[in-house]
Amino acid sequence: LAKTEVELASIPEGKNVIIKWRGKPVFIRHRTQGEIEEARNVNWKTFRDPQSDEDRVKKPEWLVMVGVCTHLGCVPIGESGDYGGWFCPCHGSHYDISGRARKGPAPLNLEIPPYDFNDVDGNLIV
Ligand code: FES
Repeated sequence: LAKTEVELASIPEGKNVIIKWRGKPVFIRHRTQGEIEEARNVNWKTFRDPQSDEDRVKKPEWLVMVGVCTHLGCVPIGESGDYGGWFCPCHGSHYDISGRARKGPAPLNLEIPPYDFNDVDGNLIV
């Protein structure tokens, strides 16, 4: 399996980066406190793919997802859409700040790839 390492110190709070992993884009967002609260305070049990934010992240401030729309595979755009997360322009799917499908045709939440925080300071995602 191909591994990729990302230095977290290079990603300021409130910013996204996109890296490539096994030929796919991977989104990494350094979430703000407000975004974490928003992701956790919604009633996710009513969502089409019900999943708590706690089940989608290893550390609340770091959201790591495969950047491939679960509808037909386009790459969603960050910091857009009706839920402050991602928007897929191909057919209009909206994902929230936890990457959960909230509106439009996407049937599932954005996928979480396998990853770990890998040095003593937790400053590296692998
Ligand atoms: Fe994203 Fe269809 S591929 S909405």
